[in-house]
Amino acid sequence: MDSIRIRGGKPLYGKIEISGAKNAALPLMVASLLTEETVTLHNLPHVADITMLINLLCQHGVKAHLNGEGNGNGNSNGRAVSLTAKEITNTVAPYEIVRKMRAGALVLGPLLAREGKAKVSLPGGCAIGTRPMNLHVDGLEAMGAKIEIEAGYMVAHAPEGLKGAEIRFDTVSVGATEDLLMAAALADGVTVLENAAREPEITDLIHLLQAMGADIKGEGTDRLVITGKEKLHGADYTVMPDRIETGTYAMAVGITGGKVELTNTRADLIEAVIEVMEEAGLTIERTEDGMIVSRDPETPIQGVDVQTQPYPGYPTDMQAQFMALMAASNGASMITETIFENRFMHVPELSRLGANINVHGRSAMVRGTKELAGAPVMATDLRASVSLVLAGLAASGETLINRVYHLDRGYERLEEKLAACGADIQRVQGEA
Ligand code: EPZ
Repeated sequence: MDSIRIRGGKPLYGKIEISGAKNAALPLMVASLLTEETVTLHNLPHVADITMLINLLCQHGVKAHLNGEGNGNGNSNGRAVSLTAKEITNTVAPYEIVRKMRAGALVLGPLLAREGKAKVSLPGGCAIGTRPMNLHVDGLEAMGAKIEIEAGYMVAHAPEGLKGAEIRFDTVSVGATEDLLMAAALADGVTVLENAAREPEITDLIHLLQAMGADIKGEGTDRLVITGKEKLHGADYTVMPDRIETGTYAMAVGITGGKVELTNTRADLIEAVIEVMEEAGLTIERTEDGMIVSRDPETPIQGVDVQTQPYPGYPTDMQAQFMALMAASNGASMITETIFENRFMHVPELSRLGANINVHGRSAMVRGTKELAGAPVMATDLRASVSLVLAGLAASGETLINRVYHLDRGYERLEEKLAACGADIQRVQGEA
């Protein structure tokens, strides 16, 4: 199993090109199940979750064609995939895949809408919380499906097809909004989704579905109105930039000091993150295709309180990284996690690097220290892992981060991108 070794204390200077968004690309790929024609996606990130989802789609009968290509900026980190679901040959999404990647469960709505049946494994809990599927199931049942839980699987039938319905989510859920949007696009009649998630990845999915012929109104709001179509057609679409990768590298510059231009991205996707970074003492200059982030290494980082919220609030996927930044600050910060009940697994590992953090229920009190020091650490999920990378970049001495496969699920060529800006970071193959 690979590890990442960092010798910290080097400010970052240079340019980082941001990849396509994993959390947008995954539902966009699933949307290919809604049509017999080909859906081609550009600017696909090279990360492990994408490969895993391609495998899942292929075993439903999708023909996938991957081809490396540039992203139009003269670089070659874009990649296109063409997905053709001419025939769905299998409506079972197995436990072996879905338990490793929750986004796999998103095939439930599209398979049900297209084939009238689906058997999809419950994803189970994961390192950040219990993550139930009740909103997906209740919504599809409101659209006429019958769903039983049998041996850990959601066994769903809609022999008469799905019907439009008025659905109000009692919790804002990105996945349930995506699942029901896709199902409603092929349902009979009008579906209204109230209290829908407004994350930019939802808007990206709406734009693809519209390009496939779907009738969806209300994008960017929490009320989506979908008039189902009998058929959707193929489309050619470019995946949005990864806002979490953007925020992560911005915070890397914050924690080390320096000046880095982030390209191929959009500042408007992370306004809430920019606001707290500016309060913490980072300078953000918006550019045409991203931003320039800087902090004088001699200027201390200020403590700022943060509470995670659904979009447009501060994202939970940027909570661990901000905690690393606050651990290296000159002040104190209260960080409150409201989306997931167990998303502080990085705290004991950050503490191994010298961070001073006390967790009280859903809040963590971080008292900044300039004395972070390298140590071997281990991570439990994607964003927790990257928070350890950030802390390692600031720590004196050597930090060895184990279980790098978590990072590989969502960050493309992380060590290359950071090393190009002067970080002393390497992947060490085969060390546990
Ligand atoms: C998406 O997960 C993202 N994953 C997550 O990113 C992200 O943290 C999360 O949205 C919140 O922004 C992908 O897009 C692939 P939710 P998702 O349904 O859709 C509760 C990362 O690091 N809930 O919005 O699974 C749930 O337990 C990952 O890239 C129900 O109660 O999240 C949670 O408390 C991690 N019932 C809240 O809603 C349900 O049926 C929000 O979850 C569904 C969700």
